[in-house]
Amino acid sequence: MSEKNLELMDKIVSLCKRRGFIFQSSEIYGGINGFWDYGPYGVQMKKAIEKLWWNYMVESRTNVEGLDSTIICHPKVWKASGHLDQFGDLMCDCRGCKARHRVDQMEDPSVCPNCGSKDLTEPREFNLMMKTFVGPVFDEDHTAYLRAETCQPIFVDFNLVRVATRQKLPFGIAQIGKAFRNEINPRNFTFRSREFTQMEMEFFCTDEDAMQWYEYWRDQRLKFYEMLGFSNDVIRTYDHEKLAHYAKAAMDIEFKFPFGWGELEGIHHRGTWDMSQHQEFSGEDMHYVDHDNKRKVLPVVIETSVGADRSMLALLCNAYDEDTAETKKEGQEEDVRIVMRLPAIIAPVQAAILPLSKKLNENAEKLFGDMARYFRCEYDVTGSIGKRYRRQDEIGTPFCVTFDFESLEDNCVTVRERDSMSQERVGIDQLRMYLDKKING
Ligand code: GAP
Repeated sequence: MSEKNLELMDKIVSLCKRRGFIFQSSEIYGGINGFWDYGPYGVQMKKAIEKLWWNYMVESRTNVEGLDSTIICHPKVWKASGHLDQFGDLMCDCRGCKARHRVDQMEDPSVCPNCGSKDLTEPREFNLMMKTFVGPVFDEDHTAYLRAETCQPIFVDFNLVRVATRQKLPFGIAQIGKAFRNEINPRNFTFRSREFTQMEMEFFCTDEDAMQWYEYWRDQRLKFYEMLGFSNDVIRTYDHEKLAHYAKAAMDIEFKFPFGWGELEGIHHRGTWDMSQHQEFSGEDMHYVDHDNKRKVLPVVIETSVGADRSMLALLCNAYDEDTAETKKEGQEEDVRIVMRLPAIIAPVQAAILPLSKKLNENAEKLFGDMARYFRCEYDVTGSIGKRYRRQDEIGTPFCVTFDFESLEDNCVTVRERDSMSQERVGIDQLRMYLDKKING
């Protein structure tokens, strides 16, 4: 990572802590590597991302259903999926510098790539599944696993969802939820965590139609990132050359993080692998009866899989900006404004309601109550208006609404826009419509 990008990443991490977006989990105990807590603004933003994804992928479509499954499933689920036997890396430790390496990523597996020492431990298999016990006895018979991906319960519940909803192929099932992986090297802030949220959609179709659906979902997902304001400079696609033995196609949508290009989302053509594995291990018939063509088919799966935490990190990185603000006076040092240029739809606070004077609190509080029914709002009375604008810029609030003494006379408020810093007088009775148009388009 270049010096400049390292500095940028540090600024983002420190802003996230200072302003209550993301904190290290259990910080007072020294933290726990790979676990992150979302603070007051962080939780608002993460929920907004999930809501947007859910609306785009589920609510606005007739052919995608939702699911909210448990984190702990029958352990056989993970046997069938291959996670218990294959979901791991061969690792070795350097006795010299204590670094841990993935053997398949070492150019020369007999030499530590960090310090050059040849004093390495024997390679050991590390499984990434997180283990727990269900029931009062902590032994192998009571072992269970925290799910490593949210899609497996979707495959397991396929028949139940299909019958309950009377859906016919092709259709999808989507889920948002926690996933857990014992990542060997959690790193790059929340990018590689041990506990994270996935947003996955599994689309079930016939083999003949599968490639068409693969392309359709790739385009839909790219459109989603365009909607979030990601330009082509920071988004690219990468087609996998090496495919899993059951897969027909796979690609990543990558984002240009300050630490380099990284996977944001995977789009996978998984063939009939998932359905045939669960059919074999559970004994349940996973075939779909295609009455129109008088045949039975094992559904092929097209998957779109994205992390909510990674999406949020990408949005934060894309939004961070510094500019020299309008308040700079001659002879003064340059006044740097930190501004998060977040899309209004996912900003943690969409409108800040600011009374110009404490004497106006009662009226401004009423306005806050009215607006908070429709938008994520914050009420801020402390400090000068300039300081309050700065605080809102730093958390990405797109609109600041100032209630002043004139508002008592003309029933209007001043709306200040974050990016242009332009100000406009808007009638209080028009404010909801005005903000709705700007925020929700
Ligand atoms: N069901 C397919 C699957 O889980 P994956 O590529 O392992 O595929 C999908 O994960 C997405 O989940 C990634 O593109 C990323 O956004 C997110 N993700 C995976 N591992 C992660 C981790 N350790 N920390 C944060 N997000 C992660």
